[in-house]
Amino acid sequence: MLWKGLWLSLPAGVSPERCCAASRPEGISCLLHLFLLPAGRFSQTSTFLKSGKKIKKVSGAGGRSPPLMRLRPAAARGGEGRGREGKKKGRGGKGRVCREPRVRAGRVCSGAMGAPGVKAVFFDLDNTLVDTAAAGRRAIEEVVKALRCRHRCGEGQARAICEKVQAKLLKECHDPARTCITELRISHWEEAIRETIGGEANRSLAAECYFLWKSTRLRHLTLAEETRGMLTELRKAVRLLLLTNGDRQTQREKIEACACQPYFDAIVVGGEQKEEKPAPSIFHYCCDLLGVQPTECVMVGDSLDTDIQGGLNAGLKATVWLNKTMATPADSSPVPHYVISSVLDLPAVLQKMEHNINAKLGNERTVSSNGAC
Ligand SMILES: *[C@@H]1O[C@H](CO)[C@@H](O)[C@H](O)[C@H]1NC(C)=O
Ligand SMILES: *[C@@H]1O[C@H](CO)[C@@H](O)[C@H](O)[C@H]1NC(C)=O
Ligand SMILES: [Mg+2]
Repeated sequence: MLWKGLWLSLPAGVSPERCCAASRPEGISCLLHLFLLPAGRFSQTSTFLKSGKKIKKVSGAGGRSPPLMRLRPAAARGGEGRGREGKKKGRGGKGRVCREPRVRAGRVCSGAMGAPGVKAVFFDLDNTLVDTAAAGRRAIEEVVKALRCRHRCGEGQARAICEKVQAKLLKECHDPARTCITELRISHWEEAIRETIGGEANRSLAAECYFLWKSTRLRHLTLAEETRGMLTELRKAVRLLLLTNGDRQTQREKIEACACQPYFDAIVVGGEQKEEKPAPSIFHYCCDLLGVQPTECVMVGDSLDTDIQGGLNAGLKATVWLNKTMATPADSSPVPHYVISSVLDLPAVLQKMEHNINAKLGNERTVSSNGAC
């Protein structure tokens, strides 16, 4: 029998978008043990094979290192995709651990694109799969144009307003239980306009700017053709999960806008969980969703603070940092296992992992040969 899908029944109140039924190309032998593995640590959920056969439940794989997580503004947490790479974090080098890939004897699937033992890849969204920063810049240009043409702002004033809004976005602390993100972000524009032009608050102008910014940004958020191709190929060998920090509504709108859902076995949004990246709990939740162990997963992202630190905190097999910042990280930054400059380089990195491990299996363990470390 070939494995065709995994259905998850969700606890009450959990959106079904959060996990999509995964269909797989048939005949890839290394996928077969996916469903032979324990289904993870579901406490309230049950997992079934399509045939109706229940996957064995297992209890906690606990005993991991304590969460290394502080509450920080959304932008710093990677939600709006502007990481704080290169800034001082004063975390005393925590997480500067180079883990050797774990060798699992007898489990080599050569020929597959994923390394042996790699069963899932977790992708960050903002500035990893889609260029959120570039889309944001285009959105700002639209608003500047509108402020100048329709509201007779000077160019300098218009830019000053936009800069103030961006600063407010980076510091944004959003409590979804108290305000909705739309109200909050219209207020950013309202304040920025008042701080720049003075006078009375102008909510309607602020709302117009916000909606223009938002719709323009979403329109420019696209998953590049080559990225789609890479994900499609990769998914023939490993399971793929989208793991993004940020406000629920904002991130769900981005996911919709770039139409990336069909490329993933599951999608997890930080704002819908108890804790966001880099807390281990959200990574372990992802593992549970896919029924894999942390040591079988690879995290790929552009933020050292959230993606890489989180992957290390959760004890993942490897972390892959998309180095887009062109800056050398601070000494206190977490050290990723691998560094790539384009997400399209990921398959080669996975192959390198496989190669390294195969070499080790052949030589009865040589010295570490682990990528960036
Ligand atoms: C708000 O801005 C709009 C557009 O520039 C303008 O027509 C309107 O008079 C302003 N309202 C207030 C209360 O300033
Ligand atoms: C990241 O990229 C920049 C520019 O390509 C480079 O100077 C820097 O050394 C890179 N950092 C790491 C850790 O690879
Ligand atoms: Mg990111």
